[in-house]
Amino acid sequence: MTILVTGGAGYIGSHTCIELVKAGYDIVVVDNFVNSCMEAVNRIRRLCGVEFPFEEIDLTDYSATDGLFDKYKIDAVIHFAGLKAVGESVTMPIEYYRNNLNSTLSLLSAMKKHDVKNFIFSSSATVYGAEAPVPYNEATPVSRITSSPYGNTKLMIEYILKDTAKAISGFNAVLLRYFNPVGAHESGEIGEDPTGIPNNLMPYVARVAVGKLDMVHIFGNDYDTPDGTCLRDYIHVVDLAKGHVAALQKIKENCGVFVCNLGTGKGTSVLEMVKAFSKSCGKDLPYEFTARRAGDLPAFWADPSFAEKELGWKAEKGIQEMCDDVWRWQSKNPDGYRS
Ligand code: NAD
Ligand code: UFG
Repeated sequence: MTILVTGGAGYIGSHTCIELVKAGYDIVVVDNFVNSCMEAVNRIRRLCGVEFPFEEIDLTDYSATDGLFDKYKIDAVIHFAGLKAVGESVTMPIEYYRNNLNSTLSLLSAMKKHDVKNFIFSSSATVYGAEAPVPYNEATPVSRITSSPYGNTKLMIEYILKDTAKAISGFNAVLLRYFNPVGAHESGEIGEDPTGIPNNLMPYVARVAVGKLDMVHIFGNDYDTPDGTCLRDYIHVVDLAKGHVAALQKIKENCGVFVCNLGTGKGTSVLEMVKAFSKSCGKDLPYEFTARRAGDLPAFWADPSFAEKELGWKAEKGIQEMCDDVWRWQSKNPDGYRS
């Protein structure tokens, strides 16, 4: 079975490529390097031991995307490609809607033409919105609108896929709602490599640990949580990658629309993360409490029981392993893929 992995040079895509090859799938990888680089592809190939095909294509280009399906016999698409910085999306909504919606529509158009009916989409816990009770489970209705244009693209694409599955008989749409992916491959060869100053907690902490940034700023310590800092459900990226392999199994059962959380079911505070990372890198990382970040929710985590029941998948790696693996990646590659 051949899987088209879009955004496969990116953080989650790169780890998923490895798990797919391990599980015996053939892969074709596509990326336009808007947030990644060829070195990631070289390293994935080395780790897999397979020279899989790679195409540098912008998926918003309908004819280039269509050409992919002429060139390769694709059985399923795992669609990671997209712009993903929540804050940036607020100032660049047009670019976010254009990139994320058009890349999906162009893939779906090409799939319709070539009679490809299996699609796995990288959605996000953000679709549950601010009002949903925790833990989030799949029966929780999605919010009418999310807290950012980025989140709204996820919500809209979920609707596009549900409508497509209604219209095309036999179309399988798996919507995987990720919680907070962190960690890196145990080899330390691939990991998260954001350009500029990281927005997300884990890469920021890692850069403090490696001496590229001065100190961690913890956004708010007056939340109604055990230590006053926000709680999130951090999931190791390799566990997340394995969740996609499990989802392909579900597709083989002709699941139709299948919505599933990928999380651990455990909330961890920002302060606990900083402390765990300090243990991994062997020094106390400096931090200070600053004002709350606009739009942050105090606490959310997944109810992971549906994934376990339906996919036979469960996250296995804990917080310390996540931090150890990020530290291995960051200390071996202080400048990411440019090291
Ligand atoms: P990433 O930026 O590392 O990877 C996305 C990849 O897509 C990049 O390599 C980028 O170059 C590529 N890309 C973007 N637009 C493209 C286009 N038009 N054509 C071709 N390639 C394009 O991000 P990631 O963290 O690996 O996230 C993967 C997916 O998971 C994204 O859709 C993201 O929104 C979603 N997601 C991520 C998180 C998270 O915290 N990392 C959480 C929930 C959902
Ligand atoms: N935080 C800090 N300091 C930092 C960065 C983050 O204190 O320098 C805190 C945030 O306030 C938050 C927690 O660390 O409490 C996690 O923040 P992240 O930015 O790492 O992650 P978010 O939970 O805000 O968002 C992530 C993804 C989104 C996705 C969401 C839900 O970035 O794409 O999880 O899945 F939508």
